[in-house]
Amino acid sequence: MSTAVAGKGLEGVVAANSGICWIDGEAGVLSYRGIDIHELAEYSTFEETTYLLWNGLLPNELALREFTAQLTLARSLDHRVIDMLRSFPRTATPMEVLRTAVSALSFYDADEKDNSHDANVRKSYKLTAQIAMLVAIYDRLRKGKEIVPPDRSLSHGANFLWMLNGEIPSETAVKTMDMALVLHADHELNASTFAARVIAATLSDIHSAITGAIGAMKGPLHGGANEGVMRLLLTIDKEGADPAEYVRNMLAAKQKISGFGHRVYKTEDPRATHLRTISEQLGKDSGNTKWYDMSRAIELYINADKKLNANVDFYSASTYATLGIDIDLYTPVFVISRIAGWTAHVIEQLDDNRLIRPRAEYIGPVYPTHWIPMEERP
Ligand SMILES: CC(C)(COP(=O)(O)OP(=O)(O)OC[C@H]1O[C@@H](n2cnc3c(N)ncnc32)[C@H](O)[C@@H]1OP(=O)(O)O)[C@@H](O)C(=O)NCCC(=O)NCCS
Repeated sequence: MSTAVAGKGLEGVVAANSGICWIDGEAGVLSYRGIDIHELAEYSTFEETTYLLWNGLLPNELALREFTAQLTLARSLDHRVIDMLRSFPRTATPMEVLRTAVSALSFYDADEKDNSHDANVRKSYKLTAQIAMLVAIYDRLRKGKEIVPPDRSLSHGANFLWMLNGEIPSETAVKTMDMALVLHADHELNASTFAARVIAATLSDIHSAITGAIGAMKGPLHGGANEGVMRLLLTIDKEGADPAEYVRNMLAAKQKISGFGHRVYKTEDPRATHLRTISEQLGKDSGNTKWYDMSRAIELYINADKKLNANVDFYSASTYATLGIDIDLYTPVFVISRIAGWTAHVIEQLDDNRLIRPRAEYIGPVYPTHWIPMEERP
């Protein structure tokens, strides 16, 4: 019999044991497998970080080489999945396409029915490689452009940019993308990861778990916030409004500002610290600091007025804008990274599984309320 009633939105509830990610929301600490995100952002790569998340420790040189080779080998999509992408209406957003296409990937995966640890690791390589490809390919198809085949000599982030734009990306773009991928790779029991674990725990399959996670990520309170930030910046720019004044009015109208606030962090989100620096530097390098300047003005106002801090999504918007990425690809780029964490959590869940099935505090009509014939109903 359950006794404790969780707060609304499960705030403060510890719902799983996990050895993957540790956050101290009061101190603003985020770590993957005990390693501080600031160290990973500075020294690691997406490939190494993904190895760390999946295996629990940093790879040695040989292990990293083998891991990278496996990940690049997994850059392959069944032609029927690509045909499916061609058949989608061009109005479909990349997140909707991703949600549907990832579900369909299981049709063509020989490991589909195998929920063993090794099969889930094999599927994790494939999903990680394929999701980045799906995003790039769909974007080219909807723009009437030729599909760019993957380049196995490139890193995960560089290959994504190559398949998206059809040109070898600059060193700055690759470095920026890689750091963004490291920063977004995992975040404990956020909504999408929790969704993935709940689905996995029914002994469904990893494709179902990731499809559900993508659905959760799409919402504006979660991963969809980075697109919301950019739409806000564009509106302010179009109206020629003062950024601080504009958000002041939004707050007065009780509207939420995308990219601010967090359920866990009571201080600055450590990922925002890096993305702010990246956004500023990229702006300076490109000779256009407009998006950064506008973002900073908004941040200073909201910090002072509402005591709310920027989260991971706030400066990723101006960062991706300066890299020339389309707005509706921002959340898919989040997915390209977070697949590393989702798969780590699904594997961890299934390695020691128990169905996740909480209770609800019943607040409906009193029991027993009796069925009454139609003619007697009010
Ligand atoms: C992230 C988020 C969903 C966390 O939600 P939560 O823990 O349930 O917190 P709440 O929504 O209850 O917010 C607590 C208070 O701060 C305010 N607040 C939180 N985020 C806010 C924001 N972005 N803009 C304005 N006010 C905000 C709420 O209005 C609420 O104020 P109140 O107590 O006066 O009613 C929330 O901060 C939010 O909606 N942020 C914008 C979307 C976003 O950036 N999401 C990405 C998260 S990484």
